[in-house]
Amino acid sequence: MRFGEAQLRSRGRGPARERGREVTRMGNPTREPGRGEIVLEGLTKRFADRLAVDAIDLHVAGGEFFSLLGPSGCGKTTTLRMIAGFEEPSAGRILLDGRDVTYVSPVKRDVNLVFQSYALFPHMTAYENVAFGLRIRRLPRAEIDQRVREALEVVRMTEYAQQRPAQLSGGQQQRVAVARALVMRPAAILLDEPLGALDLKLRKEMQVELRRIHRETGMTFVYVTHDQEEAMTMSDRIAVMNRGRIEQVGSPRDLYEHPATPFVAGFVGETNRLRLRPTGTRGTTLVADYGDDGVVLVAAPAVPGANGSLGLLVRPEKMSVCRAPGEADSWLRGTIREVVYRGELTRFIVDVVTGDTVVVDELNDGCTLLPERGGQVTVSWPATSAVPAEPGTQG
Ligand SMILES: Nc1ncnc2c1ncn2[C@@H]1O[C@H](COP(=O)(O)OP(=O)(O)OP(=O)(O)O)[C@@H](O)[C@H]1O
Ligand SMILES: [Mg+2]
Repeated sequence: MRFGEAQLRSRGRGPARERGREVTRMGNPTREPGRGEIVLEGLTKRFADRLAVDAIDLHVAGGEFFSLLGPSGCGKTTTLRMIAGFEEPSAGRILLDGRDVTYVSPVKRDVNLVFQSYALFPHMTAYENVAFGLRIRRLPRAEIDQRVREALEVVRMTEYAQQRPAQLSGGQQQRVAVARALVMRPAAILLDEPLGALDLKLRKEMQVELRRIHRETGMTFVYVTHDQEEAMTMSDRIAVMNRGRIEQVGSPRDLYEHPATPFVAGFVGETNRLRLRPTGTRGTTLVADYGDDGVVLVAAPAVPGANGSLGLLVRPEKMSVCRAPGEADSWLRGTIREVVYRGELTRFIVDVVTGDTVVVDELNDGCTLLPERGGQVTVSWPATSAVPAEPGTQG
């Protein structure tokens, strides 16, 4: 059904409107400012008794590189397919540039979807694949030729124009798939895990390439991935999804430094989870006192669970095994289980007195004397860089 979708897609807009739009540079038609704005209001999708997307509200600005990030099954693809028009919402609205397109057919929406599977026509060359949508629209031959050449150039595939997909590498096929969407000059491009099939090195290269293409075209990119590092690298803003809902929307930095929920803290970047037994309070601060073995302060509002325990999340780089005593307000004694040298940093795996095992990242210019495996250390961190886990959870 992938090809069918691609064909449907390409019949969308009439040639008259296309020709009317002045073109300055490939994929950079003189754009109305903010074109490609996407608004989702209470968007919901129910499959039988399963709520795949649960009343999400979202605002993607025109020209933004916006990612939907979340674990498998959280509703990313379903959301993207509703924006593209391949899936009808059970409730809610979709606005593209202020126009309600909730029940508008996919061909009449100014967006193009790039599938993870590329969905190229195997019997056509790269050139013909990219030209296909424009031919369906019956654009003049010279204009098609010019636009296809420009699109292939943007994705750096000019020299492979006459190859068929089977003669191209995965990364090259992916570029053709992107060119095929770009050539239609939609207001927004929707990409569903587009790099999922590529090996790590190629993924990294394509990440940089997609950023460049985004910058050069000025189109809105909505990018779906379950890879938090990829989302952090590429996006202006990210929506973190979990079980059909949006947990938080923010810049990569916002999400990392100020996670709104324990789920976000755990999903975006690595984090340690400590199980504490608070023993008292100092003002609004909870205190877990381990006598000579440590003290942990929980500054943010937190409520211990029914069994009296509390989960606390701390990033590996916020913890140290080298600080002088008293330099950070929270600390625990522990034993080093493993030392892993990683070039710019050394990673310590430490068993601490709460019974937890934590990961501590120490930059290799921090410690004067690096502790060794089996050594006794004090793991410390500032209370302000710790986030309580869900109230009421045991951690
Ligand atoms: N056509 C369908 N019929 C029934 N259930 C569906 C259908 N499509 C998706 N679902 C269910 O909706 C939920 C969300 O699916 P979706 O494909 O949107 O997840 P996803 O976030 O894209 O996951 P992944 O990272 O694995 O691609 C899942 O529980 C899935 O099983
Ligand atoms: Mg998916």
